[in-house]
Amino acid sequence: MKLQMCAWPEVDAYLKESTGIIIPVGSTEQHGPTGFIGTDALCPELLAFEIGERLGVMVAPTISIGMAQHHLGFSGSITLRPTTLIAVVCDIINSLTRHGFDRFFFLNGHGGNIASLNAAFSEIYAESSLGTAGANRPAVRCHVENWWNGEAIKGISEKYFAEAEGSHATASEVALTYYGYPEDAARIRQDRLSPRIAPEGPIYDADDYRRRFPDGRIGSDPTLATAEIGAELFEASVTGIGKKYHQFLVGE
Ligand code: NI
Repeated sequence: MKLQMCAWPEVDAYLKESTGIIIPVGSTEQHGPTGFIGTDALCPELLAFEIGERLGVMVAPTISIGMAQHHLGFSGSITLRPTTLIAVVCDIINSLTRHGFDRFFFLNGHGGNIASLNAAFSEIYAESSLGTAGANRPAVRCHVENWWNGEAIKGISEKYFAEAEGSHATASEVALTYYGYPEDAARIRQDRLSPRIAPEGPIYDADDYRRRFPDGRIGSDPTLATAEIGAELFEASVTGIGKKYHQFLVGE
């Protein structure tokens, strides 16, 4: 169930059955010459919408802009400051708790968001602990699940990509988006990049990033990505993350 496609009485009816919600969160940042700028938002959104359909879970609109300051050396990348992202996440949680949601499962597509998501959760818990949350707010629990972290996903990545998976513009995330958006994939895909596997290294600011990683990739060869592999990743992710959502909902 997509929140933005519901009428409010439908949300009321849902809340009588469940107080959990999945919130896809990603980024709008370069993903090398053969990856969509929206990759990190598109991946969790594709998965969340499917999980929502199969399991009858409410899915919030995607937070599609994240903390991506290091990508600003490439055209089209957009960042929120960490403090802005923390504020956005807190406002979304506090809006939805007002209606009775109290289990927030953030399905994340971007490593650069993790610190800010966890800081936002700490802000929310601090409001409860300090007594500033208001008496009506339910006891809230938040969880961040990085879609690429499942065991089955790692197995598929290892099988097809091995050392060419990399850590940014990864072969897996590009494959998942090629599965989701085949017509656009046909437009941007290339058979070969040079060097075949991109360099590795640390991440600092945007100018430094562009010097270290000239075409935007880190450690990957995303030309290995295909829609067929993306379909495998999709199925494995939907199954694995669906289970994790259920565990989160019923957990202590
Ligand atoms: Ni990415």
